[in-house]
Amino acid sequence: MPATRAHRPILLVTRRLPDAVEERAARDYEARLNRDDSSRPGDALASLAAGADGILCCPAEKLSADVIRAFPDSVRILATFSVGTDHIDLTAARERGIVVTNTPDVLTDATADVALLLMLGAARRASEGERMLRAGGWPGWNPTQLLGTHLGGKRLAIVGMGRIGQAVAARARAFGMTIHYSNRRRLPPDQELGAVFHTDADAMLAQADVLSLHFPATPETRHWLNAERIARLPKGAVVVNTARGTAVDDGALIAAVAAGHVAAVGLDVFENEPNLHPGYRSLDRAFLLPHLGSATVETRNAMGFKALDNLDAFFAGREPPDRVV
Ligand code: DGY
Repeated sequence: MPATRAHRPILLVTRRLPDAVEERAARDYEARLNRDDSSRPGDALASLAAGADGILCCPAEKLSADVIRAFPDSVRILATFSVGTDHIDLTAARERGIVVTNTPDVLTDATADVALLLMLGAARRASEGERMLRAGGWPGWNPTQLLGTHLGGKRLAIVGMGRIGQAVAARARAFGMTIHYSNRRRLPPDQELGAVFHTDADAMLAQADVLSLHFPATPETRHWLNAERIARLPKGAVVVNTARGTAVDDGALIAAVAAGHVAAVGLDVFENEPNLHPGYRSLDRAFLLPHLGSATVETRNAMGFKALDNLDAFFAGREPPDRVV
């Protein structure tokens, strides 16, 4: 418990959270919960935060410099219910003296699971099969129906070998894939586990039967997967993204799938969510999920508890364990 009941900090919780998380928030804070889960754009938060000591926010709220500057002076901490912090202008938070925390580690496995789901779904044409069944258009089994690509024996190229990249590699090994990766630094052998390190991500692309992106969204990584890099992939490659939609130039990727250079894509994240590029909707060889990477009860509870752990530490005068700013 972060404080005595008489002095509970006021906490604005921007979205509906899992029951167990809201119960703990309401027990330990003067919590302003969002019971009807109304969507709150960043610029609506300043007035909702009047008098609040902290905000437990979510990745769908764009906390731009203007939004952060408009926060009341009472707000001293932003605990985001996410590992990603690209929705928050961290420089503005730093300038305002607002502490920012995130929720690393607890969503690694769930996100890696979804990366494998996307690989399989895209490579094995799961969306097309499901659509055929739902439309009542299945003519019955036949030997050449919806033939996909086998993952076993293929090369998986991972860009960004942090926690999630490594968890994806572990799962892909179980499918018999060979692992290639690029990363800011080479991993020690006990983490690399035989994966082939590439100092040059662009050069690695020629080896990518399957490409999986695992780097944070920054101005430098915006549209990293562009037409030029897509052209380096072998014909028939599968592209998977569970990181952030901004990593991909959608127009270029859609054109490459339509042209058959990329066999299929599996995407859980999109630029300008929830308004994905309309070209994906009509793309047969796209297996699409609505940002479900961390969407399990266990993971969302763990994310909420981590956000509260950070808030508890801050209001108890300790360093929050997952402080970003
Ligand atoms: C995160 O935590 O950044 C995820 O994208 C939410 O699932």
